[in-house]
Amino acid sequence: MLIAQLSDLHLRDDGADPCHDPVEATRRALEAIAAMERLPDAIVITGDIIDRTAKGYAHVLPFLKDAPAPLFALPGNHDQSAEFRLAFGAGMAYHPEHLSFVQPVGEALLIGLDSTMPDGSGGLDSPRLAWLASVLAQTRRPVILAMHHPPFPTLTAHLDRPGFAGAAELAEIVTKAPVCRIIAGHSHRAIQTCWAGVLASTAPAIGHALSLSLTGQTPHRPMPGPPGFDLHLLQEDRVVSHLVSLA
Ligand SMILES: [Fe+2]
Repeated sequence: MLIAQLSDLHLRDDGADPCHDPVEATRRALEAIAAMERLPDAIVITGDIIDRTAKGYAHVLPFLKDAPAPLFALPGNHDQSAEFRLAFGAGMAYHPEHLSFVQPVGEALLIGLDSTMPDGSGGLDSPRLAWLASVLAQTRRPVILAMHHPPFPTLTAHLDRPGFAGAAELAEIVTKAPVCRIIAGHSHRAIQTCWAGVLASTAPAIGHALSLSLTGQTPHRPMPGPPGFDLHLLQEDRVVSHLVSLA
């Protein structure tokens, strides 16, 4: 099983991109995937498909409709839930109350968790945690959990300050389930750690990079940086991940 993970496209509709052109970066990412010796079984987008400056998804769908593999989209804090469901809901079994989904991919089970709470903060409330626990109780497949917000501390002040609601409860669920990988976005940089006994990571952004401040003393702002995406390969119950830079 092979999954390509794209994250944080931040496709604006006003051309005022702060760094590189994310439309061009998205095209390059999809072309790079299409040119691979082995096509992915799925492409998952872990949120922020549009920038909050954009009005809906009409400008996005033409770039994504020709994806070289089945595409499964999750929202991020920049996305718009109602419009997102209209844009990506056809053929997708999103949960009726949030935009989480369950999707078999090869021998694995991809669970997309909508980690954007109604107020825009990151986390999972009790109904979403209960839903996840019930899904996990019904599978013996190796599970990949995908979400926008990383549930783990990144040790960067601007990301960690808001916290992740339900992190402790999620960790408890993960430790009791056949979860073999957690993949997220939101940070606009590649971060890896072991969390709840599982390798967890954030993918680089297709859109702009963000400045790095480990102490919070310098401003958190968009900055130039190479777009990129992750590849996740499952072998038995072990996932090997590759970072593909589009520099
Ligand atoms: Fe983002």
